[in-house]
Amino acid sequence: MASSSGSEGSPETGTLAGVEREVLVRIAPDPTLLTRLAEVREHLVRRASTEANHRGIPLRRALVAGSAARGTFLHERFDIDLFLLFPPDLPRERLETEGLRLAEAILEAPEKHYAEHPYLRGRFEGFTVEAVPGYAIEDPSHPLTAVDRTPFHQEYLAAHLAPEQVNQVRLTKQFLRSLGVYGSEAKTAGFSGYLVELLIVRFGALKSLLEAAQDWRLPVRLASPGSRPAVPEDVAMILDDPVDPHRNVATALSAESLARFILAAREFLRAPSVSAFFPTPPTPISIAEAKTRVAARGTHVAVVRLPRPSLVDDILYPQLRKAERSLGAEAARLGFDVLGTSSVAGVSDLWIGLETATPSLPNVRVQDGPPPGMAHADAFLTKWKSAGGDVLQGPYLRPDGKLAVDVAREETRLEALLSAALPGLALGRDLREASKTGANARPLEALEGSPELSELLDRLLNKRLPWAPAR
Ligand code: UTP
Ligand code: MN
Repeated sequence: MASSSGSEGSPETGTLAGVEREVLVRIAPDPTLLTRLAEVREHLVRRASTEANHRGIPLRRALVAGSAARGTFLHERFDIDLFLLFPPDLPRERLETEGLRLAEAILEAPEKHYAEHPYLRGRFEGFTVEAVPGYAIEDPSHPLTAVDRTPFHQEYLAAHLAPEQVNQVRLTKQFLRSLGVYGSEAKTAGFSGYLVELLIVRFGALKSLLEAAQDWRLPVRLASPGSRPAVPEDVAMILDDPVDPHRNVATALSAESLARFILAAREFLRAPSVSAFFPTPPTPISIAEAKTRVAARGTHVAVVRLPRPSLVDDILYPQLRKAERSLGAEAARLGFDVLGTSSVAGVSDLWIGLETATPSLPNVRVQDGPPPGMAHADAFLTKWKSAGGDVLQGPYLRPDGKLAVDVAREETRLEALLSAALPGLALGRDLREASKTGANARPLEALEGSPELSELLDRLLNKRLPWAPAR
């Protein structure tokens, strides 16, 4: 393939090798940074053991793992992962208190965070460090906490990731990041750093990964022969952890994120471009534009708002998506034609959008009855004969010989029906509480503009593939 000729500066599309070179110039860390980082890693580990000694903290060993240990980080998400490993017989509460005490002694301006267990984020010699307590285990297929396999990952990649593949990992992470599918946190549901590194070990380079990926079909099974990762049925990808063949490294990856990568692989190989690695920042459609679109589509949009409970993102997002699914399912069950749903976690509120074909149901509801001759046919007739004002027509017989009656609904508007249904819906534990205090459902017309509403409407009415032009 020829690179686009005649252009003076950097070609927008070109050969894959040329594009990779240009991207690497922009994303590869400076050699002086890498040298400095190697020093800081050493200082950190040494400092951890001295502080542990001084304070009588039973640290077994400290190590820097993750992308800062291997140089495979992207500068936007650069931090040093410091693992503080304790003897496996140390009780869990003490692991936390001792781990945090030690981390506080090492780091400046430490802040406590919660993942599966607490960790501290702070500064050390000018770098951001995440200090994570864990157990120094012998067998990575029997971890005591979610982070205990980390030293084994580090060891595996040190042995299997070739030096020339480090750049390929960086490129792949950047490619995924530009698609919005890099990171295993619940909000993103994308590829974890470790998954990317394993994929590069497996396929050798970004190019060969993309060549394979363009033909993948969901679910993508990359498990090595003989391994049996214990996985839920609905995972999008299965890749066993080389240090623990029962664990699927890709559990966090959603079907949508993986499908986006598969499509993008084909698109990129067809026309390699630097811009595929650097997306243009999104500009959400305005509220006015959203209203124009709704009018052109002849549809209706309802917006449900709940107060945002104070939860870490990894707990919040699964619940928000569950609430989005539940509200969509409830609207459909009520008889609305649901075209789409979306959700946004705002600063103080959670927002869920629903697009339906109509703003309300008809006044009439057809109540199906039994065929004559059944025991409850009599009861059906008796009940509806005396029902009075609610009955709009019937009871009557349908062509199939069954009874039916047309009754009037008390409420027909989507928003009122959703508000009434909300307390009984499966929303996720913490949102259920939040929904009891100050949840509301409003039609789009009744809402004031806000950045969060724009984002919600953008996700509902401006859906497209990342590389496609906006409409
Ligand atoms: P990170 O999420 O920081 O990934 O986890 P990373 O490889 O450093 O990638 P980036 O560049 O920051 O995005 C650090 C290490 O922690 C282990 C993995 O071995 C990973 O390499 N880890 C993380 C676990 O074992 N379990 C987890 O749940 C999370
Ligand atoms: Mn990291």
